[in-house]
Amino acid sequence: MIARDPEKPNFLIDTNEYLISYNGKSILTDPGGIEIFSAVFTAISSVENPESLTALFASHQDPDIISSLSMWLEFNPALPCYIPWLWAGFIPHFGGNKETFIPIADSGMLFSLNGLQLEAVPAHYLHSSGNCNLYDSTAKIFFLVIFGAALPENETDIFVKDFDRVIKAAEGFHRRWMGSEVAKKEWCERVSKMEIDMMCPRHGASFLGADVERFINWFL
Ligand SMILES: [Fe+2]
Repeated sequence: MIARDPEKPNFLIDTNEYLISYNGKSILTDPGGIEIFSAVFTAISSVENPESLTALFASHQDPDIISSLSMWLEFNPALPCYIPWLWAGFIPHFGGNKETFIPIADSGMLFSLNGLQLEAVPAHYLHSSGNCNLYDSTAKIFFLVIFGAALPENETDIFVKDFDRVIKAAEGFHRRWMGSEVAKKEWCERVSKMEIDMMCPRHGASFLGADVERFINWFL
């Protein structure tokens, strides 16, 4: 996880960017907005050669997720970017060309990061109509789960310490943005069958161990 900036202007949403590295190659998931590009780039450079970045992954079309795309492509114009197919006509407005995008089917997709199998897991309508989470079955980590942009005040924890406090802050967001009961039910049924030790959301702290199941039960 790269971004958690208590100094950021309060009109911006706090977002999480995740770098998954394997055998000297890495993928950046939900690279973030324009405003955070330099911080994310610097953070990556502090742990590895940024040349080892081989792909981007955008869970959906929102600017807090992928408006930095053109800056990443300025760094490396050949970087591919996985996106839900539904947004293939929209995300290119942030940058890239025909060769940049690898569309993900509605049913999801398996792909390899230099030998590590990753899975784009459908989460449509939660909240975006074309939306994918990302699952690493080796590490048992589930990334980019839909979770409220409304975080508890002064939230700086990397992992959820007080489940009830975190959920309370997110309730309003979830009522407004997660409009489909059918989609929620389908997602919960699918995800509850997966082996997950850590659930890492787009916003806020990650759920560990028993809190993963608590989150799925609460969401349902
Ligand atoms: Fe979004």
